[in-house]
Amino acid sequence: MDESLVILEAKNMYHIYESLSLEGNVVALRGLNVRIKEGEAVAVIGPSGSGKSTLLKCLGGLMKPSSGSVSLGGREMIRMTGNELVKLRQETVSFIFQDSNLLPDLNALDNVAQPLRHQGVMPGPARAKAMELLEKLAMGDRWMGMPEQLSGGEQQRVAIARALITNPKLILADEPTGALDPITSREVLELFEKLHEEENVAFLLVTHNRDVAYFCERSLELRDGRFVAQHGTDFDMADLSETRELIIDETGTITLPPDLLLKLGGPGRFDVPDADRDSLKLERVEDERIEVSSKTKRVLAPICPACNHDYSDSTDQLCPECGSSRPMIQA
Ligand SMILES: Nc1ncnc2c1ncn2[C@@H]1O[C@H](COP(=O)(O)OP(=O)(O)O)[C@@H](O)[C@H]1O
Ligand SMILES: [Mg+2]
Repeated sequence: MDESLVILEAKNMYHIYESLSLEGNVVALRGLNVRIKEGEAVAVIGPSGSGKSTLLKCLGGLMKPSSGSVSLGGREMIRMTGNELVKLRQETVSFIFQDSNLLPDLNALDNVAQPLRHQGVMPGPARAKAMELLEKLAMGDRWMGMPEQLSGGEQQRVAIARALITNPKLILADEPTGALDPITSREVLELFEKLHEEENVAFLLVTHNRDVAYFCERSLELRDGRFVAQHGTDFDMADLSETRELIIDETGTITLPPDLLLKLGGPGRFDVPDADRDSLKLERVEDERIEVSSKTKRVLAPICPACNHDYSDSTDQLCPECGSSRPMIQA
């Protein structure tokens, strides 16, 4: 592939959260490889706690991965100084988070204009462009609103306008419609599709929402910090086994999704009676079966780690109070 067409590439990326707690360190990413071409839209899907947010932060240079390399627009981020990195990020990539992350002391217009101000654009032209974007997002008459006076959907539209104002070539979005009602979600998606189709903006979107994943050319399935499979445009979020293409990476590593591992009868050793180009057959060495159930069980956390909200019996994946995604913990 022509390297100039790759907007984002990560090689063998690991991330470990160091912790002094009893559970010890958390390995959130385990040797990921990703390559996104200019103008491509890719979704990342996977259960809570699988590493999606960590992946996005490492890819966008908000957090340094523990090891591995990330290059943005063909430039290796690890070798850059702080200032160079900030500049590259400003010129190439924008983030959209689930909670809009607006500056509480600025009104909608100045929040949107802020990235341009950071690039040294004068207030007049920066505000003019901000107003144009707010109008595009049907927020023109709300420009004076302070974040606390705006609804969740309105705040998210302001955050999206802010993300678009620098004309990014790549948008990294972490559950961008997670806090929106279905109608606003739909509007946001239509805008994304338009940017993707008409302005060749590339997207990497973390989502639980099937409509979001559908507008992407492919979806990567993340489990426990590894990409296990890729799906095309047409798939069922509730049953990923239908359209799954397993991924074997450059190191030869393959991770079986849990449902496939169960189907196979659990971990163990396998003979390889047939391995040809493009095809592999495995046969269990019968006396080597290891029961899957011996693996530690993970359950949804009972309390939100961010705001201490008590989930009690609910199966919510997102905290109703602060919007954080609900982690899995060991039972
Ligand atoms: N700041 C942190 N400190 C320690 N562990 C973290 C931190 N952030 C995330 N984790 C852990 O890393 C793993 C991946 O988290 P995350 O990337 O937020 O997953 P997702 O976005 O898919 O829900 C989880 O086990 C989570 O508990
Ligand atoms: Mg997350």
